[in-house]
Amino acid sequence: FYMAIVAPSLLAADFLHLQHEVEMVNQSEADWLHLDVMDGQFVPNISFGPMVIEFVKKVTTKTCDVHLMIEEPSRYFEQFKKAGADHINIHIETCPRLHQDIQQIKAMGLKAGVAINPHNPASLLSDIIADVDIVLVMSVNPGFGGQQFIPNTLNKIREIKKLIREKGSSALINIDGGVTLGNAAEIVAAGADVLVAGSTVFGSKDPLGAIRELKKL
Ligand code: DX5
Ligand code: ZN
Repeated sequence: FYMAIVAPSLLAADFLHLQHEVEMVNQSEADWLHLDVMDGQFVPNISFGPMVIEFVKKVTTKTCDVHLMIEEPSRYFEQFKKAGADHINIHIETCPRLHQDIQQIKAMGLKAGVAINPHNPASLLSDIIADVDIVLVMSVNPGFGGQQFIPNTLNKIREIKKLIREKGSSALINIDGGVTLGNAAEIVAAGADVLVAGSTVFGSKDPLGAIRELKKL
């Protein structure tokens, strides 16, 4: 069987007991910790910024996968690097100079990801895919945890996989939104390398068990 990379999303954690939640992830078989930054502009919700990530970084032993759902994200690359980001994912929808922004993230020594909203086709990635380390495929409209997986994402994963082969890219395909123990196997079968999971992990009575199940498909 194929071992997916699993990235619990802290958005669904209990923020009153953040240290406990981060330590739970440390104890788990998860690979990355997914950190959702929202500005109330690009998405309707406001979450947290570099300050919270800086505290999380003191405790976590996992790779910090930062997902910037903010307008003009390049204004904050330096701050997120300082806070402890290992990966910075930026949206194609917020970056008119995406190529330049991706190069900037990589020049800082971080892995660069491009995130793409559900309505945008895989073909939009054709001239950037060879330059990125990660494609973050949104399988819900960004802004909130606990939403339903959009089924067309499975076709999009297959198309992106094909594009990666055609362009000689080494990008990982990461799926974000509505990933459950029920649909994870077909998402991985479609070609996903990484699974983000918020409510499936933190909403579970047995979060360690949920992470283990996502790993072992
Ligand atoms: C949504 C965020 C996701 C979110 C996923 O805008 O990008 O990372 O936390 O939450 P679940 O897994 O509950 O759909
Ligand atoms: Zn996310």
